[in-house]
Formats: sequence, structure tokens, C-alpha cells
Amino acid sequence: MNRLELALGCWQFGPSFGFWENQIRSDSLRVLHAALRENIRHFDTAASYGNGSSEQLLGHQLKRFSNTIGREQLHIATKIMPKSPPLVRKDLQKSLARLCTPYLDVLYIHWPSSDLDLIPILDAMVKLKEEGLIRSLGLSNFPLSLLSRFSEYPISYLQSPCSLLWTKDMHPLITYCREKAIKLVGYSPLGLGLLNGKHPNAPCDSRTTLYVFDEGAYPTYKDLYAILEKLSEKYQRPMAQIALKWAMQQGFDILLLGARNKAQLLENLGAQSIVLAEDDSAALDGAAALLAATIPQDQDNLFGHRW
Ligand SMILES: NC(=O)c1ccc[n+]([C@@H]2O[C@H](COP(=O)([O-])OP(=O)(O)OC[C@H]3O[C@@H](n4cnc5c(N)ncnc54)[C@H](OP(=O)(O)O)[C@@H]3O)[C@@H](O)[C@H]2O)c1
Repeated sequence: MNRLELALGCWQFGPSFGFWENQIRSDSLRVLHAALRENIRHFDTAASYGNGSSEQLLGHQLKRFSNTIGREQLHIATKIMPKSPPLVRKDLQKSLARLCTPYLDVLYIHWPSSDLDLIPILDAMVKLKEEGLIRSLGLSNFPLSLLSRFSEYPISYLQSPCSLLWTKDMHPLITYCREKAIKLVGYSPLGLGLLNGKHPNAPCDSRTTLYVFDEGAYPTYKDLYAILEKLSEKYQRPMAQIALKWAMQQGFDILLLGARNKAQLLENLGAQSIVLAEDDSAALDGAAALLAATIPQDQDNLFGHRW
């Protein structure tokens, strides 16, 4: 199995889509500085996170530290949703300016869109790669059926959920990415924080829209939650660490950690030292599979996004 790399997800730096509202800027700065101190060098953001504000915060801070941490030591990834091929370059240029960098390590298409012909968009991205403005191409939230249509393209990264809350199609995706040497990047390892010991009942933000709060899924989500609570007690570790450790074991190449403050980030990094017994991991696998079975047939992503 590949060695897992832990990276920092920077969505929290730019609250958006009804998630992470009231995020405090000084907390975001402490998260980022703590991540750098903990030797995290891979950062994931998106143009849509806070309408560019996540990219901006990340870029300015990385520039501040550029005397001690050179650009070559960093891995900076962002995501765009270009509406046409010419806009790929324009969107990238805006992201590069906000991120204070001459190039990106990965440029992702954030979401597929059935309104767009993706081939010219990918062609435009390949051109940017040839020009050295991006080092690699990534796709995000592409289901396997769609991803496999672009096997002729040099896709190096795929971003997909990696959590007990969403295991639908996870194993075929892992197999495909291994075969094609695509690095699999897992996001929302705490199920957008729904596996953190705070939210067995509906939280007061966009998380309420997730399928786990649907009538057909909620009891199964609570069953999973109860297992996590038990394991948290057994291992004397916070519930978030148990959920994260499970995610760390799934065979992804990179896992994106999301944190609203420094304490959360440090707690999450602490998950690495847990050793889950085989039967406990199996109990979590089983509960996640039961939950996945409640996902509506036509839903192919955690957010219920219609693309
Ligand atoms: N490609 C995509 O479409 C996509 C989608 C989602 C995420 N991502 C990327 O993946 C990154 C990680 O995803 P995510 O932010 O959803 O990760 P996550 O780990 O599932 O959720 C993070 C949230 O969980 C809570 N939390 C984190 N650590 C905790 C702890 N130790 N104890 C208690 N609560 C804790 C916090 O929210 P509360 O304190 O408010 O509960 C935090 O904002 C994002 O930042 C983003 O870069 C990409």
C-alpha cells in the first residue's frame, strides 16, 4: 500500500455554500501556521472557497514564509469551474495571482458539468501544463463512469470523499486509480465534521442538507455514530480521531484534513498513532456499508450535487 500523505484542506479559510460560517480569520491563520510547523506541505484550496478568499489567505501566508519554505517544497492545488475553454486560462491566472505563485502543482476541475463539453476544457488544461503554468491535471467529484471516459488525458489526481459517511463506489475507484497511476486524494474524512462527537443531531448549517439526515438514512447514521462513540471510549481517544484513523486506512494516497482551529488540527494529526483492532475496523466497515446502502440510487456524490 502507498504511504499516506496528510495535507491541509483550506475550505475553512473561505467559508462558502453555507459551510464554516463565522469562521474567525485568526483561527485560520493559526491552523495554517500549525500545519507548516507540523511539516504539512500540501495545501488544497479552490477558487470558489470564499470567492477567492481561501486562496488569498493561503497565498499571502505562504509568501510570508518563503524565506524558510521555498516554493519547490510546497504542493499547492486549487480547483476551478471554467465555463468555457478560454476561461480556463483566465481562471488559472486569477488563482495564481491570489496564491502568489507562478505555477500550481495541481489544477482540478472542481465538479463535472453536463452543460459543458469537457474535452476542450481538458485540452486547454493540457496546454497550460505544457507551458509550465500547472504541473499536473486533476479531476474532482468525477464518478468512475465519467472519469474512465478521459483515460486518454494525463490526469494525475482525483479528489473524492474518504469517510465513513460516503463509501459508495469507493473501492472500484481506488482500484481504477491504482491501475491508472492516478493519485487518489480523499476529502472530508470527518464527513464534514458529522463524525466528530458534536453532531448526532442536525447541525445549524448546510450539513443539514446531507443525505444522512433523510428519514431513510438517519437511523443508520445514528448506529454508525454509536459505534464510533463506543470505540472512542474503548481507545480513550476523541471520536474524531477514530473516524480519521479509519479514513487513513482506506488506501488513498493523500488525505485532506479540515480544521476550524489549531486544536482541531493537532487532534486530527494525533489520529496517526491509533492502532485500530481488526474487528473494530471491520465493525466500522460494516456500519459504513449499511449507511451507503441508504444513499438514494441516483445520488453519485456526498453533496447531492446535480451536474
Ligand atoms: N473536492 C471537493 O468537492 C471537496 C469537498 C469537500 C472538501 N474538500 C477539501 O477537503 C478538505 C477537508 O474536507 P472537510 O473540511 O470537509 O473535512 P472534515 O474533516 O470532514 O470536516 C472538517 C470539519 O470537521 C470539524 N472538525 C475538524 N476536526 C475536528 C476535531 N478534531 N474535533 C471536532 N470537530 C472537528 C470542523 O467543523 P465544526 O467544528 O464546524 O464541526 C471542521 O470544519 C476541505 O478543507 C477542502 O480542501 C474538497
